[in-house]
Amino acid sequence: MKQSQRVTLGGKLSAVLVAAGSSVGLGNIWRFPYVAGDNGGGAFLAIYMLCVLILGLPLMIAEFSVGRATHRNAVGAYRTLDRKWSFLGYNGVLAAFLILGFYFVVSGWTAEYMVHSVTGELTRYTTAVEYTAMFDRFIRNPWRPILYTSLFIAATHFVIAMGVQKGIERSAKVLMPMLFIILIALAIHSLLMPGGTEGLKFFLQPDFSKVTAATVLTALGQAFFSLSLGIGTMVTYASYFKAETDLRHTAFHVTILDTTVAVLAGIVIFPAVFSVGIEPSSGPSLVFITLPGIFNSMPLSMVWSSIFFLLLVVAALTSTISLHEVITVYLHEEWHMSRRGAAWTTTGGTMALAALASLSLGLFDSWRICGLNLFDSLDYLTANILLPAGGFFTSIFVGWRMERKALQAQITNDGKLPFRIERLFRFLLRYVCPAILLLVFLDNMGIF
Ligand code: PHE
Repeated sequence: MKQSQRVTLGGKLSAVLVAAGSSVGLGNIWRFPYVAGDNGGGAFLAIYMLCVLILGLPLMIAEFSVGRATHRNAVGAYRTLDRKWSFLGYNGVLAAFLILGFYFVVSGWTAEYMVHSVTGELTRYTTAVEYTAMFDRFIRNPWRPILYTSLFIAATHFVIAMGVQKGIERSAKVLMPMLFIILIALAIHSLLMPGGTEGLKFFLQPDFSKVTAATVLTALGQAFFSLSLGIGTMVTYASYFKAETDLRHTAFHVTILDTTVAVLAGIVIFPAVFSVGIEPSSGPSLVFITLPGIFNSMPLSMVWSSIFFLLLVVAALTSTISLHEVITVYLHEEWHMSRRGAAWTTTGGTMALAALASLSLGLFDSWRICGLNLFDSLDYLTANILLPAGGFFTSIFVGWRMERKALQAQITNDGKLPFRIERLFRFLLRYVCPAILLLVFLDNMGIF
């Protein structure tokens, strides 16, 4: 497809909003608190922040450059630059498919909680035991979660069918700032709950004695997951960026926004976790059993929880759209399907996988892959293996293989912008990122 036939995104803000729409999602508000809780809190946060800064930021600029240099889907982009590297694009398309398999399920849960907030069902319970029982009952039910997941998938399909510009750009514009405001309000409330400071300490005070190789891999994987890296999403989105878009600033703003939302989510969740008496290592259910407790202790709880879950649904939607888009535009451009046909194929495939993942939490709980049910294996395989592997090869590709001039041209917009930290950037991509990723991988395989 020629560049001129492709849509580009509007004004200056759009690139940031659209990329932030992809990054900010359940990864920040659902996954981050649960993996941080599982991995000891403070020390995890410190390692996570380092991963974002040292690996995440340079890799995002790298992915943006690949996308805008080629104006192609993830596979086509790497293939255009070097045939042998198209596997990196395939890794992304596969990862996007597998992530959607469980992400759609959790998105369905948020939709169900939104409905429960509006109907007042959520405020009927008062203790942590009751919230947990309610959540368990819900996810084990064979039909209800699948129903909500399907509704969610339909919404994603609808936006994708409207196209990148109208669908994606518009939804990100209004709702992101609202999410920020409500998170700040909830954080303040949560801190004031009895016992809240203990939770804050858990989240902010590092205890490095508990850190293992697995903690570092999980932090790395979470950073990639949260920033939508190592999967071709940022390559795909940048393929729609304008020539004037400043890739350095866009990456910087997206990283700051994304990390702020994750930290805010931690400040909302952990004080409440300790106050309500929930185990911080409760796993994927953590947020769903903690939040109702927070809302219940607030005046106008129904209003707060309805708005919050509505925003969470939207945050999830802007992320599922970006994942869906990776596969849709790949099928459209590489397999020469019509955009409609490509979107339907993606929707159908992910629907089937999501249904299986949802059932793996109840009816098919006995199906295990290396001891994990399908839902948990999809989560583990993508965040801890496919995304870091994608990041590893991206850093090698952009650091060593991509023509230096072409990379410079992208980052400086053909010499119009300064690039003072080019040496540091190249050093990080060439040596630091691959070395860290390799060491962490080997360490996890028990090589040391
Ligand atoms: N970053 C999104 C989130 O935090 C999830 C995502 C991962 C989206 C990878 C696109 C690619 O929710």
